[in-house]
Amino acid sequence: MSSANYAKAARIANTRLGMDSPAAEGCKDEGASGAPQVSKPSSMDHQMSQLMPEGMRKIGLEMHQSASDFAAQAAKASKTGNADAALASLSRVTQQCTACHAAYKERSKNKLSNSSIW
Ligand code: HEC
Repeated sequence: MSSANYAKAARIANTRLGMDSPAAEGCKDEGASGAPQVSKPSSMDHQMSQLMPEGMRKIGLEMHQSASDFAAQAAKASKTGNADAALASLSRVTQQCTACHAAYKERSKNKLSNSSIW
């Protein structure tokens, strides 16, 4: 973004973090699609959706959606040269990062202190 390479930023956001990225599979709601789970290929990311707490999955899904939105805005910026909307959208993505890390911090702390016994 800082080097004004908006098209590249859009491509990376789409393939790594957006709704069409493999990582987003883990956060898509099984129930909403109505598809029987057994007939779906069971990727690692897909299995994540069964194991995550519901609240965490929701934040994750919002993050992937924000990332897709950012990608669209960055693609626009590459044509118009105006990155205001893209920057606003990027800050929504990072808000989701912080939201999830803040909400689930306690757990990972416990995990860390437990393992430090050994
Ligand atoms: C849905 C919850 C969630 C969201 C959203 C999320 N994270 Fe995380 N993040 C985690 C968890 C949980 C861990 C710890 C993973 C582990 O211990 O294996 C983690 C770990 C990390 C780490 C590694 C930290 C370390 O000490 O190893 C980085 C870096 C990170 N996240 C960055 C991000 C960024 C950047 C975003 C936004 C684009 C983001 N995260 C969004 C849950 C989330």
